[in-house]
Amino acid sequence: MSAPSNSQDAMKQAVAAAAVEFTLQRIDDKSTIGIGTGSTANAYIDLLAEHKAKITGTVASSESSAERLRSHGIPVYDLNSVDEITLYVDGADEVNPHLELIKGGGGALTREKIVAAVAREFLCIADQSKWVEHLGTFPLPVEVIPMARSHVARELVKLGGDPVYRQGVVTDNGNVILDVHHLFPISPVRKLEEQINNITGVVCNGLFALRPADALMLGTSTGVKTIYPG
Ligand code: A5P
Repeated sequence: MSAPSNSQDAMKQAVAAAAVEFTLQRIDDKSTIGIGTGSTANAYIDLLAEHKAKITGTVASSESSAERLRSHGIPVYDLNSVDEITLYVDGADEVNPHLELIKGGGGALTREKIVAAVAREFLCIADQSKWVEHLGTFPLPVEVIPMARSHVARELVKLGGDPVYRQGVVTDNGNVILDVHHLFPISPVRKLEEQINNITGVVCNGLFALRPADALMLGTSTGVKTIYPG
């Protein structure tokens, strides 16, 4: 991936600001906000912190986001102490017109999928480089129990992919990641999500189609567009 341009950074800032406005309209003093992981989520956290008096609590999808939230003085809860998440805000590596996603470029896919599962509403925030007609150009991250790595890799090859071990990365859950290349175009997305979930040793895969986003804020050169599933 090439380094982000200044305009890409500006788009991330713009969607983060729009997402903070969206959040403030959705929450009350009983709300818990789900917070994602990555550079776009970081921009959102930093802007959300300007309104921290209105935030009762959050659940983070990674240790790094939890640390960033705490550094701003925003409370972070254990998910097991929370009945419901009002809104989950997170980035993506790819998003299609159905708001199905590839996530996990930052390695946080499993906790992201858990938070998304609990959330009443999932808002995806991304710059326009993430918008695709069909998923699968970005290598699909799969979190795997370490002893099952080779077995899972062989099964992923049978599904048509080319898995590459993400060297030196251990997830927040103590597992490893395989990035699966050459799956483009992924279709139907839900079927592949289920097939990969069914491989013994897989903890989670980065397809978010069984639980897609409910809305997308996309930063473009002409401003932030809010998109609902097509
Ligand atoms: C983290 O594991 C990912 O799912 C991120 O949401 C994704 O990689 C987007 O990151 P950026 O906002 O840094 O592009």
